[in-house]
Amino acid sequence: MKIFTTKKEIAQYFTHKENKIVGFVPTMGALHQGHLSLIKQAQQNSAEVACSIFVNPTQFNDPKDLEKYPRPIAADIAMLEQVNCDILFNPTVNEIYDDNEKWHLNIGDLEHLLEGEFRPGHYQGVTQVVYKLFSIVKPDVAFFGQKDYQQFMVISKMVELLNMPVKLVMCPIQRESDGLAMSSRNIHLTPADRSNALILSKTLNWVKYNFNADDIPALKQQAELMISNQPGIELEYLEIVDGKTLHPATANTKSIVALVAARAGKTRLIDNMLIA
Ligand code: PAF
Repeated sequence: MKIFTTKKEIAQYFTHKENKIVGFVPTMGALHQGHLSLIKQAQQNSAEVACSIFVNPTQFNDPKDLEKYPRPIAADIAMLEQVNCDILFNPTVNEIYDDNEKWHLNIGDLEHLLEGEFRPGHYQGVTQVVYKLFSIVKPDVAFFGQKDYQQFMVISKMVELLNMPVKLVMCPIQRESDGLAMSSRNIHLTPADRSNALILSKTLNWVKYNFNADDIPALKQQAELMISNQPGIELEYLEIVDGKTLHPATANTKSIVALVAARAGKTRLIDNMLIA
């Protein structure tokens, strides 16, 4: 695997690219099977696969969260080598950002709904860094996980607004055998948190299997109760929404997604499920 840390090195490398389809998997590291499934999907759809590892400071609204974000770079490199990833881009913060850089992209209410309400500024930071990474790596196709469903919508909106020549692919959530959605943050869970956190995927499954389009508010209320009743879990939101707008689903909505965010002990987790 070729490892680049500067924009210049990446640009030089791709000068020699002969019309090869480049697939790109942007990450913040602390890789797990979920990330590797994105790499594998990218390998099936591109001639060369680049992964980036960059813990992006501008998307953290809580400095403590940024500080404690896991950074096991040696283990990450070993995992990428094991799955034969072609390129790793692993820049420093100074390589990506100049001092006091400004960024604002009008992504409409996607910025303030759901995650946006609980993590103000988060999606401005995400669009800022993904715009930069796309401009540096210049991928033909980029792969993102469904676990960050709203992030995928935000990035799609950015690509559309800025007319960026990249195709986006959303890949399914990878789960542990007991249903917990894979996440880099799971390593912060104590055994008790981890067991309490199973209520998230259980509740989403319950919503899916008890779905009745005519009574979405009652279903939502019951699902909220299931999570709130779980000791050690603090619910932030559970919403059953239109998968295209993220506005509350109604009996006429065609594509429906249930999304949840909650704290298990000190760790914030998100999860979602396609319902209809
Ligand atoms: O999903 C992530 O890991 C990050 O939000 C991303 C897309 C790599 C941007 O920093």
